[in-house]
Amino acid sequence: MKPALQTHGLGVRFGAFQAVNDVHLSLEPGARQALIGPNGAGKTTLINLLTGVIKPTAGRIEMDGQDITAFTADRRARMGLARTFQINTLFPSLTPLLSVVLAISEREGLGAVWWRPLTRHTALFDEAHALLGRLKLDALADVPVAELAYGKQRLLEIALAMAAKPRILLLDEPAAGVPEDESGELFEAIAELPQDISVLFIEHDMKLVFRFSRRISVLVAGQILTEGTPAEIGVDPRVREVYLGHAHAGIHAGVAHG
Ligand SMILES: Nc1ncnc2c1ncn2[C@@H]1O[C@H](COP(=O)(O)OP(=O)(O)OP(=O)(O)O)[C@@H](O)[C@H]1O
Ligand SMILES: [Mg+2]
Repeated sequence: MKPALQTHGLGVRFGAFQAVNDVHLSLEPGARQALIGPNGAGKTTLINLLTGVIKPTAGRIEMDGQDITAFTADRRARMGLARTFQINTLFPSLTPLLSVVLAISEREGLGAVWWRPLTRHTALFDEAHALLGRLKLDALADVPVAELAYGKQRLLEIALAMAAKPRILLLDEPAAGVPEDESGELFEAIAELPQDISVLFIEHDMKLVFRFSRRISVLVAGQILTEGTPAEIGVDPRVREVYLGHAHAGIHAGVAHG
């Protein structure tokens, strides 16, 4: 089977600074893959390259074997590539229900929704409720976003990305800012997303990385240092060295500190 997403020698330079360098990354269909690495390693930049918000200065990107390097971010999104951001991007005064309804409307083309008969609106709200239910947000459907616990807000961001019906989901630190006792629940929801969706997530908390990923790619100074199963990465001395040299703390075979 072809990888859902694959890069070949992907790189970007900002002036003289090589932020991402010669990256060969492969995301299998149905992947639950973690992208880890120290602050400033280039993880967010790599996601920006994949989604098309920045252009590479080297290499190419393929989706299901098709070269998408020249495609706009919009076109990639329409092909089924969705992402969430390191920083919360929700409308605080909207409810989760209306936020998801808007996101579904955007997928369908706003005009197509507003001019449809009432039955279409029912289907729209049904779909929004089903999506909120999948992320265990249904009971909070009508609570203004600003009043939700932060972990719930971050779940809603995933719901909004899911509203696009993506085949590939890129999550940039989905648990950033979430209290530790809520982050497990957040990742359980990610683990339970439909199994045909390929998920790549950035996460600094090694406990979560080892619990929820099936593969791990390690990015250091813009380059992939190594890639493998959690068991392989947990005992890799090069990975330990990178982490022991940073404030993030160490990796010890599956149990580490965030
Ligand atoms: N548009 C840009 N112009 C110049 N430098 C940039 C730009 N975007 C990112 N950088 C630099 O590229 C490097 C990688 O940044 P990036 O945000 O990708 O790191 P990261 O791995 O996501 O870090 P963190 O874990 O802190 O989120 C940093 O040194 C950053 O300052
Ligand atoms: Mg980042």
